[in-house]
Amino acid sequence: MVIPILVFVGLLFIPIGLACYAASNKVFEVVYRYDTKCVPKNMLHNKVGYIQNASINKTCTINLKIPNAMKRPIFIYYQLDRFYQNHRRYATSFNIAQLSDPKEEANADIKDCKPEAYAAKGIPVVPCGLVAWSLFNDTYSFARRPRRAGGIGGVEALRVIKSGISWRSERERLFGKHVYPKNFQNGSLVGGGRLDPRKPLSEQEELMVWMRTAAMPRFRKLYGRVEADLDAGETVAVAVRNSYNSYSFEGGKAVVLSTAGPLGGRNAFLGRAYLVTGMACLVLALLLTLVCLFFPMTEEHLRLR
Ligand SMILES: *[C@@H]1O[C@H](CO)[C@@H](O)[C@H](O)[C@H]1NC(C)=O
Ligand SMILES: *[C@@H]1O[C@H](CO)[C@@H](O)[C@H](O)[C@H]1NC(C)=O
Ligand SMILES: *[C@@H]1O[C@H](CO)[C@@H](O)[C@H](O)[C@H]1NC(C)=O
Ligand SMILES: *[C@@H]1O[C@H](CO)[C@@H](O)[C@H](O)[C@H]1NC(C)=O
Repeated sequence: MVIPILVFVGLLFIPIGLACYAASNKVFEVVYRYDTKCVPKNMLHNKVGYIQNASINKTCTINLKIPNAMKRPIFIYYQLDRFYQNHRRYATSFNIAQLSDPKEEANADIKDCKPEAYAAKGIPVVPCGLVAWSLFNDTYSFARRPRRAGGIGGVEALRVIKSGISWRSERERLFGKHVYPKNFQNGSLVGGGRLDPRKPLSEQEELMVWMRTAAMPRFRKLYGRVEADLDAGETVAVAVRNSYNSYSFEGGKAVVLSTAGPLGGRNAFLGRAYLVTGMACLVLALLLTLVCLFFPMTEEHLRLR
């Protein structure tokens, strides 16, 4: 009686495992590192000089070949390398009260945000601290060149949807509806992106994503998503506005297109599918063995007589 059940469970779980495996194989991603590719050849010896020179046009077009068909939604990430968002002094350089409550603008604790706590004349910076100050500011726009169009025109812009990239709890609780950026990136040293001072922090989703600090020096953050299906073999042209100075710490920058959302990267999904299936199988097998050992059928049958 028990053996057939085990066999049945086994037969049930193997196809489930295979299905999960097939599903995770449908996750496709294209990663393109552009930090060096976007520097003109005559500036390669002085990349920091290139990124800091405001009179150089930093628009850079890269062509991504899409090897496999990708179904919508396609998630866009930026990936940074050698960026230590987990460094203790960096990761604590913000003030949580100031982010959510307009009354906390000049909170005494924002001294911890130094050197990005106060602007000239001691007026507080909102949002203060190094994390916000170093906001990533490269931008991407996408256009597809379908294979069929064959080079003659046939370029179609792909709209990037940038709302909904943050967590709901961040929008509703952490970042205030009545807190507006003030004196931000206003000093002599600009660390990264600027914020629209007319928008409350609860609507600055790029900032929320950036401020959820990464644990590893190589990390990906969600940039947006594209609601389109891409065909195998087509080319997507990405116009990068290459602004972020990763050159002074020799950090890499890459743009990623992936069919997996922030909760299911390729590896995470695969691992989870295998683990859950494997463990469920083990637990079931163990349970059935125990049942078989401790409740032999004959005894029960005897008692029933
Ligand atoms: C910035 O680039 C321009 C044009 O390429 C060049 O003429 C100028 O000398 C550069 N400025 C600096 C500070 O390197
Ligand atoms: C920079 O170059 C791109 C194309 O390479 C062009 O579309 C854009 O208008 C230029 N920007 C400026 C400020 O010259
Ligand atoms: C900050 O920006 C405001 C305008 O938004 C300007 O009036 C003010 O002078 C700036 N402060 C500093 C210290 O640059
Ligand atoms: C982007 O960030 C860099 C610092 O990494 C800064 O120098 C530059 O002015 C910023 N550019 C824009 C357009 O925000």
